[in-house]
Amino acid sequence: MKLRIGIQKSGRLHEDSMKLLKECGIDVSNGVNKLKTEASNFPLEVFFFRDDDIPQYVEDGVADIGIVGENVVYEKNKKITVVEKLGFGKCRLSVAVSRNDDYDGPRFLEGKRIATTYPVLVDRFLKEQNVTAEIHEISGSVEIAPGIGLADAICDLVSSGSTLFMNGLKEVQPILQSQAVLIRNSGLSDAQMAILQKLLFRIQSVKKARNNKYILLNAPNDRLDEIIGLLPGMKSPTVLPLAEKGWSSVHSVVNENEFWDIIEKLKEAGAQGILVVPIEKMII
Ligand code: PRP
Ligand code: ZN
Repeated sequence: MKLRIGIQKSGRLHEDSMKLLKECGIDVSNGVNKLKTEASNFPLEVFFFRDDDIPQYVEDGVADIGIVGENVVYEKNKKITVVEKLGFGKCRLSVAVSRNDDYDGPRFLEGKRIATTYPVLVDRFLKEQNVTAEIHEISGSVEIAPGIGLADAICDLVSSGSTLFMNGLKEVQPILQSQAVLIRNSGLSDAQMAILQKLLFRIQSVKKARNNKYILLNAPNDRLDEIIGLLPGMKSPTVLPLAEKGWSSVHSVVNENEFWDIIEKLKEAGAQGILVVPIEKMII
């Protein structure tokens, strides 16, 4: 029994999807061809698809699970289950207009032509805003539509913003935030669910590790309580005596988001020789 996963063939999510599998200890380097590859050390077959097709393939059971952007999940509206947000491929679906246009809110779009590959999401947005506009569904290179007179505005994914910039456009209205998610077919067998659980456990360990750092520091013993109070750790920090009298070495784990805040406070509390190192996997 093997689980079949669909990932993007090429594009924004391809590299990060492959990297995630690799960090989960799944070796997919063997015989990668254009259509599919097989993991040598995990019951997983990897299929490479156009990202837009992945929800359909997962609904139909061509693949059991898939990695795809939320933007595609919501646009396609297939009967699939979202299992987990993956924390990469962050972007937004936004309306963009010519750099020279004065956009003063959704009213600007009234009676205009909007080119997009996301007609469902754009239509929903326009209805919410009570705006009537013409949606031109096109399948790619949306950003060139205004320049060739095909549209007055576009709605497309924006990540760094460089595609818009290079085409003389500016982002004026985000309508959806997106990131990569793991999806699954809604009718997996118990045996398939068991493999998915194994994979999910690894993915969650990788995600936690990415969000956390291992921190080591030297603390004067008379301020140890204060310093330990700043470091929650997985259970509680590890404290070891240093060779130098009156000092201890403290080890712990800190969340990336709280990281700079904590460092400041640790310094104020007399901590020295602070080292911060990445964690590869984290199992709690
Ligand atoms: C999106 C979008 C733009 C680009 C924006 O394409 O269509 O081309 O990314 O990124 P930027 O703001 O960093 O320039 P995507 O990778 O989803 O490929 P696809 O549309 O071919 O599926
Ligand atoms: Zn796409």
